[in-house]
Amino acid sequence: MSDFETIKQAVFPVAGLGTRFLPATKDIPKEMLPLIDRPLIHHGVDEAVASGCTEIVFITGTGKESIRKYFKHSIELEKHLLNQNKKDLVSLISKIPDLAAFHYALQEEPLGLGHAVLCAEKFCSKSHFALLLPDDVMISTPTVLTQLDTVRKKYGGSILCLEKVANNETSRYGIVDAEEVEPGIYKINGLVEKPDPKLAPSNLAIMGRYILSRSIFSHLKRIKPGRGGEFQLTDAIASMLKSEPVYGCIFKGKRLDCGVREGWIKATIVKALQDKKLRKIVLETLKEERII
Ligand code: G1P
Repeated sequence: MSDFETIKQAVFPVAGLGTRFLPATKDIPKEMLPLIDRPLIHHGVDEAVASGCTEIVFITGTGKESIRKYFKHSIELEKHLLNQNKKDLVSLISKIPDLAAFHYALQEEPLGLGHAVLCAEKFCSKSHFALLLPDDVMISTPTVLTQLDTVRKKYGGSILCLEKVANNETSRYGIVDAEEVEPGIYKINGLVEKPDPKLAPSNLAIMGRYILSRSIFSHLKRIKPGRGGEFQLTDAIASMLKSEPVYGCIFKGKRLDCGVREGWIKATIVKALQDKKLRKIVLETLKEERII
């Protein structure tokens, strides 16, 4: 693939246990819980597809069969809906398996994000691939992935999605040491996973969208367990920096953090307010409850 070709392959780690959402996630993967009208994972896939990706790789753990089922045809359901002449619903659900080519890689043990990404190696045949962490739902035009790919086409190398966070929040994210090369675009000189605010090199945090060079896999194979005893993607990127450029881009748009309950509720409200009918319901309910 020429470096100027738009990214085609997108990797989604979905092997987590979703313990923050128990009991809802006792028997249903967190990625399958609905955000408005579709499962969380479908939002991420929509972004990848809208950015030009045609191949999706899910890195799953055990108990994630429903994700695989969701992205396949439901022949029985489609037949049933056709018999009832519900053509709109048939068209809505039958489009899902055709969104992209779906591949599955199994992460047998939860050994960290770096280990999860390494499980996708055999599916990532192109020079670069996208990595999307589905907990971060992005609202932006163009998509965040497209914004990162535009930077890659200009500067080359791998591209990280950045957001400035409050100084006391650095211990929740990968944090970069970087110099600004043009407004909002940074050349990365170092990275640290979840540093204590006192030790953080900046307040520029990595969010859940990456475009990575295929050489990340050789670094992922070499790193030792890092923060929390896990194989950290951040450490592999720090190692790759020595031989290949890595840039960061402050994305334009809104990030909804569905990794925590508070964020999920906020995401539901923000998404509902964007929809004409749902907006009316939200506002009417707030009035009924005498909140506004
Ligand atoms: C992961 C990465 C971290 C990044 C974050 C973004 O952490 O390890 O560098 O900032 O995703 O969401 P996690 O949230 O999986 O602990």
